[in-house]
Amino acid sequence: MELDRDPLWYKDAVVYETHVKAFFDGNGDGIGDLEGLVQKLDYLEALGITCLWLLPFFPSPLRDDGYDVADYRGIHPAYGTLPQFQRLLEEAHRRGIAVLVELVINHTSDQHPWFQRARRAPPGSPERDYYVWSDDDRRFAGVRIIFTDTEQSNWTWDAVAGAYYWHRFFSHQPDLNFDNPRVMEEVLDLLRFWAGMGVDGFRLDAIPYLVEREGTSCENLPETHQVIRRIRAALEREFPGRLLLAEANQWPKDVRAYFGDGDECHMAFHFPLMPRIFMALRLEDAEPIVDILRRTPPIPDSCQWGLFLRNHDELTLEMVTEDERDYMVLAYARDPRARLNVGIRRRLAPLLDNARRRIELLNSLLFSMPGTPVVYYGDEIGMGDDVIRPDRDGVRTPMQWSGGPNAGFSTAPPAALYSAPISDPVYGHAAVNVEAQLRDPSSLLRWMQNLIRLRKQFQVFGRGSLEFAEGSNRKVLAYLRRWGEDTVLCVANLSRHVQPTSLDLSALAGSTPVEMLGYTEFPAIGREPWFLSLGGYGFAWFELRGAPPARPG
Ligand code: NOJ
Ligand code: CA
Repeated sequence: MELDRDPLWYKDAVVYETHVKAFFDGNGDGIGDLEGLVQKLDYLEALGITCLWLLPFFPSPLRDDGYDVADYRGIHPAYGTLPQFQRLLEEAHRRGIAVLVELVINHTSDQHPWFQRARRAPPGSPERDYYVWSDDDRRFAGVRIIFTDTEQSNWTWDAVAGAYYWHRFFSHQPDLNFDNPRVMEEVLDLLRFWAGMGVDGFRLDAIPYLVEREGTSCENLPETHQVIRRIRAALEREFPGRLLLAEANQWPKDVRAYFGDGDECHMAFHFPLMPRIFMALRLEDAEPIVDILRRTPPIPDSCQWGLFLRNHDELTLEMVTEDERDYMVLAYARDPRARLNVGIRRRLAPLLDNARRRIELLNSLLFSMPGTPVVYYGDEIGMGDDVIRPDRDGVRTPMQWSGGPNAGFSTAPPAALYSAPISDPVYGHAAVNVEAQLRDPSSLLRWMQNLIRLRKQFQVFGRGSLEFAEGSNRKVLAYLRRWGEDTVLCVANLSRHVQPTSLDLSALAGSTPVEMLGYTEFPAIGREPWFLSLGGYGFAWFELRGAPPARPG
């Protein structure tokens, strides 16, 4: 069953990101699986999400949690089978939930048959040229290393091939060579494979690094954009309405290029915005958010930003200045164990000291700024992390369904779990779990359900323009979202203390603000500055009734 929908559906979507392995174990072997995920679709439907983004579930040695793909057309046996995946698609679609999968095409696992064949094939042969080789490690000198904690070079010697191969990530992830037309064909074929099965879209992992050229940074090259345009053209022609979402951890002007003229990706994550939300909160100053959004170029009408607070990786600090990075580390990662590569490996609730009002405030921004919100599994209940576990494992622990054994995630003996659930007194499953929060009308989970419901009632959040409202107090962020007849005013107090502000809304004089969670009418807006006070970390969304339309129509 295909979803029947608006071609711009992704603009109105609420995305939920999870690992199959971490969500729910259906067969009791200690590892989450597709069967388990199907059983929990009712939970996701009740949460209100409309799109499920699944981290890689393909056969893989799992040395990068599945981003090291060994077979692009299968399912890792621990997670299930292709028929089970088809069932997941059907069951998700029946609930109006779209499904996004990963297209990890910058690199494969070194266990992929293409690499095994390449290293044995004669130099210069098409089989060898599936990957990028060199006789020495001096080609593409100066290209930055991404996994700074594990890798010293982007080249690794392969004794079988008698040559170095290029890799932007772990040394067991050789980069594919997009100068080889066969590689391009393979990629288009596997896109057809998953789209043909009914998946609604693809997250394009590590997309800036597809093509390499001497004397460049090997990032965001015109040739890379050419590859993306080919992918888009094929998808558009054969599977219209399916989505491409770019993972390009780059500055706004460079990310902008991944939308092309509306002929590359439909969506791209806004990486530079995310750390600035955390900075603004700690500085109690709206400026970092206002500044980065002012520096974000407009995007084509059919395109959309993907917004997130946290995801499965470290909170990356690549897209901030050095001073900002130092500040973020000081503010959010005093414990050196919380740092990883150029980032911070923590979940949302611990980053915010488990302060409910701060968690709500940041979610209010996530759900009202221009773009489509992406929620990382577990953050809707305020799950914690464990900085002692290796790599990013501490933010990939089992979903906490109940206070029972194994957090209600699995019936396996605890030692069989792919990872122990978080068990500390504050964030452990005894204190933080779905079952308890569903029973508690004032829980974070119930609050999130409510916020999501509200967001979905107003298309202006997903589609509207953004204008900042000039105010008298930098601690209060105020912006208007406008689309057709609808105008919404969002205000957010980034300070811990109550704050006054006067907003210049004279262009909207005569309209009446109605607070959207409680339907409370506020004093009408006039020509004078509109006065408002907000409690510490308070936020409000107002529908401006009687405001002039944003544009004819
Ligand atoms: C980005 C993914 O989000 C990350 O988890 C992975 O390690 C790298 N790409 C390499 O595939
Ligand atoms: Ca299982």
